[in-house]
Amino acid sequence: MAMSYQKTKSPQPVPGDVRIRAARPSDLAVVVALDAEDTGISKPAYWKSRFEWYVGRRPDRFFLVAERSEGMLGFIVGEVRAWEFGSPPSGWIFAIGVSQEARLHGIGSMLFDEMCVRFRKAGVRQVRTMLAKDNQLIMSFFRSLGMMAGPFIQLEMGLDP
Ligand SMILES: CC(C)(COP(=O)(O)OP(=O)(O)OC[C@H]1O[C@@H](n2cnc3c(N)ncnc32)[C@H](O)[C@@H]1OP(=O)(O)O)[C@@H](O)C(=O)NCCC(=O)NCCS
Repeated sequence: MAMSYQKTKSPQPVPGDVRIRAARPSDLAVVVALDAEDTGISKPAYWKSRFEWYVGRRPDRFFLVAERSEGMLGFIVGEVRAWEFGSPPSGWIFAIGVSQEARLHGIGSMLFDEMCVRFRKAGVRQVRTMLAKDNQLIMSFFRSLGMMAGPFIQLEMGLDP
């Protein structure tokens, strides 16, 4: 079933005091809350493991957050992956989320743009992601940023118990 969403743009301009920075271990609880607000499921163990993987000094793994003085507005997670599926090194975006009251103010675009800057600095020239075909919101978002269908398709099958 297609996800429904509403585009109700407020007249507020993009807040000028938003900054994008690398996530810190102390951001974990806010990321868990932000994700739970959107998905309805709190996944502290999952995000703890993602923080262990992405938050640190590795030059090919990125966990960025958008914040202003009142607190965190959103996050994005990405990584440079090489040679899986026969693909040369490319930047993969695995997750993005902007708090519901901060949406449609360009925060998601800022996070995406900063991730692309980090990918370029890491030496890759291609950015990829994967999404559910019926997720119109995410599809609109990534298409608006210039992403298009790529050369790979995903295959799957169920496994007998
Ligand atoms: C997708 C998401 C990150 C966008 O964040 P955002 O800060 O609102 O995005 P922006 O304001 O930068 O929007 C950029 C463009 O995306 C498109 N877009 C964003 N929200 C949209 C909506 N509700 N309807 C249609 N297009 C939309 C528009 O083209 C927009 O440009 P415009 O405002 O000039 O028309 C945010 O809606 C979100 O967190 N959604 C849930 C996340 C999710 O489902 N994650 C699961 C996959 S990891």
